[in-house]
Amino acid sequence: MKIDQHTQLYGVIGYPVRHSLSPLMHNTAFGVVGINAVYLAFETRDLEGVANAMKALPIKGISVTIPHKIRIIDYLDDLHPLASQIGSVNTVLNQDGRLIGYNTDASGALRALKGKVRLEGTHSLIVGAGGAARSIAFAIKEMGAIVTITNRTASRGSALAKALGCGFVPWENMDHVDAELIVQTTPVGMAPNVNACPIPVSMLKPGIVVMDIIYNPLRTRLLRLAQSRGCQVIDGVSMFVHQGGEQFRLWTNVDPPLRVMEEVVKEALEKQDGSN
Ligand code: ATR
Repeated sequence: MKIDQHTQLYGVIGYPVRHSLSPLMHNTAFGVVGINAVYLAFETRDLEGVANAMKALPIKGISVTIPHKIRIIDYLDDLHPLASQIGSVNTVLNQDGRLIGYNTDASGALRALKGKVRLEGTHSLIVGAGGAARSIAFAIKEMGAIVTITNRTASRGSALAKALGCGFVPWENMDHVDAELIVQTTPVGMAPNVNACPIPVSMLKPGIVVMDIIYNPLRTRLLRLAQSRGCQVIDGVSMFVHQGGEQFRLWTNVDPPLRVMEEVVKEALEKQDGSN
């Protein structure tokens, strides 16, 4: 990779962020299509500082991850209508000094679910009520799923359920929902706490679909338990690559090399899984 006076800067902001494979994925994509850019991981809680830095340096685009997807909105100049409707931003584009927020989580989740489960009329439980949960709940509800939300902090979960017109169930009663689709959106089970699982095993009934949006590790404890009990499982890589592909398109106006992006992420994760 050649870095010179024309190299453009991109990155991901989160806390923590060192586990992120976004740098590997986006830097590989820039290389494959021949764009002179680098993408770094910024571990920060200072969102005002990020917005100022994006304008001052300038940084062309950022990905936004846990726990900033909702709070970042306060520091942006404009929102794409879908991001505004969902109330969560995972992508920022610096358009000539104006910071514009987009949401590519919703379309990324739908692409990950496509062909795996029929959403219309499907009883679905979303575990968590953060930015990713908002996006996925919104997206699958639009496709006709019957959505219930559960969250560790009940007030936040019930507020989201109310905003989206979904059901809500307290965290300790999540097993009261007879879910045909479960989507896990919290960081519980993410490296390094790989032995954690936020969902009671009794909910993992044969034939249901269980998606975990965590991609590190590739096979979370939840997915391993679900698979062993005869559930159909969807790992976090598919949504991760599709949301990243849409970011890449927004930033560069170039078709993302999705196959290579997925390959490089899977290869890195398989190496890690092997060493765990
Ligand atoms: P983001 O907006 O990036 O999705 P977030 O707003 O911090 O990140 O949301 C993270 C989600 O994971 C929330 O639903 C959070 O639950 P709370 O609303 O109770 O904070 C959930 N979460 C984080 N850590 C958790 C834990 N240890 N157990 C259960 N849920 C957890």
